[in-house]
Amino acid sequence: MNGTDPVRILGIESSCDETAAAIVEGGRSVISSVVASQDSLHAKFRGVVPEIASRAHLERINLIVAEAIERARMQLEDVAAVAAVNKPGLVGSLLIGFTAAKTYAWSLGKPLIDINHLNAHAYGAVLTEGNHVKFPAVALIVSGGHTSLFLWKTPLDFQQVGKTQDDAAGEAFDKVATILALPYPGGPAIDKLAKDGNARAIRFPRTYLDKNSLNFSNSGIKTAVLYHVRGNKLDRPDSSHLSQQDKADVAASFQAAVVDVLVDKAVQACRRYDVQNLVLGGGVAANSHLRDTLTERCDSEQIALSMSDRSMCTDNAAMVAGLAFHKFQARTFTQLDGQVVST
Ligand code: KG4
Ligand code: ZN
Repeated sequence: MNGTDPVRILGIESSCDETAAAIVEGGRSVISSVVASQDSLHAKFRGVVPEIASRAHLERINLIVAEAIERARMQLEDVAAVAAVNKPGLVGSLLIGFTAAKTYAWSLGKPLIDINHLNAHAYGAVLTEGNHVKFPAVALIVSGGHTSLFLWKTPLDFQQVGKTQDDAAGEAFDKVATILALPYPGGPAIDKLAKDGNARAIRFPRTYLDKNSLNFSNSGIKTAVLYHVRGNKLDRPDSSHLSQQDKADVAASFQAAVVDVLVDKAVQACRRYDVQNLVLGGGVAANSHLRDTLTERCDSEQIALSMSDRSMCTDNAAMVAGLAFHKFQARTFTQLDGQVVST
C-alpha cells in the first residue's frame, strides 16, 4: 500500500447480538457490509441472553470477516487498519469482536482502532446516501441499550449532553411488545401494528423530567401500558382480552408518547447549543413515526435533519469502519492490550 491507495478499513461490530464486518473506503463508500443477526437464538427468551450471544459471535466472527473481504473482492492484507467496537455493550460480546480485531491487526501488522458504538451509530447518518452532515450537529441516538443526545462538533468530538436515566427507548418498545404478545424484536412489530391504530386513543404520560433536562426516562411508560392493558384486573397476566384494534391503539398511543419526548428534547438540544444540524441513528431510528415526526418538526424549525438509512440504523459494521477512517487520519490507534468496557 502506498500513499495514493484508497484507505479501506475493516470494521467489526459485536457489541450486542449482531455479528458484523464491513469494508469502508475513505470513511464514505461502503464496499461490503455483512450482518449476521442472532434474533432467532434470543426470540424464545424475548431478550438477548449474554452467554448465548458471545458463543454465537465466537462461532461466526471469522466467517463474517471472510465474507466481508470476499464481497469487497480484496485480500485481507490490503486493509489499511482494523477497527472494532470496544464500548459500550455486553462485555462477553465485545470481547469476541475486539479480540478478533486485535488478532487480525497483529497478524497483518496493521493499526488497531477502537470505536465507541454510540458514536458509530451517529456516523450511520454520514454513510447514508443523499446526506451531507454538517458540523456542529446534535446526534440523537436511540437503540435497544441507549437513548442519548450528543453535541457532535467534529467527526471525532462527541460530548454527551443527555441520556436515559433508566430504560432505553428500544427496551420500552421490546417490553411493550411483550405485553401485547407481539413477535420479537418488538420495535419493528409495534411500528407495523401502530399504523392501524389511533395515536390519540390513550393518553399515556410524556416523561420530560425537569423542564430543562435533556435526559430521558422510558421506564414509567412501560408500567403505564401494563396497567392500561390489565385494566382493573391486576391478576390478568396477558393482553388476550384485547381486540386487534385495541392492541393497535395501544401500540400507536405508546409510540406517540415516546416519540413526542424524543423529538422535543432533540430540538431543545439544537436550540440550547445553537446548532442547526440534527442527526438520527440507532435501532429505534428505523421507526416510521419517529422519522416522520422528526422530519416535520425539523422542517418547521429550520433544522437540517440527517437520518441514518433504515438499513444503517440497526447494528452494523459499516458505521464502525466509516468512523474509524477519521481516527486513521488522526493516527489515533489503540494498543494491542486495549480493553473492552461495558458502559
Ligand atoms: O441499535 P440496535 O440494533 O442495537 C443496540 O445497540 O441496542 O437497536 C435495537 C433496538 C431494539 O430494541 C429494536 O426493537 C429497536 O431497536 N428497533 C425499533 C425498530 N427497529 C428496531 N424500534 C422501533 N421501531 C422500529 N422500526
Ligand atoms: Zn446499536
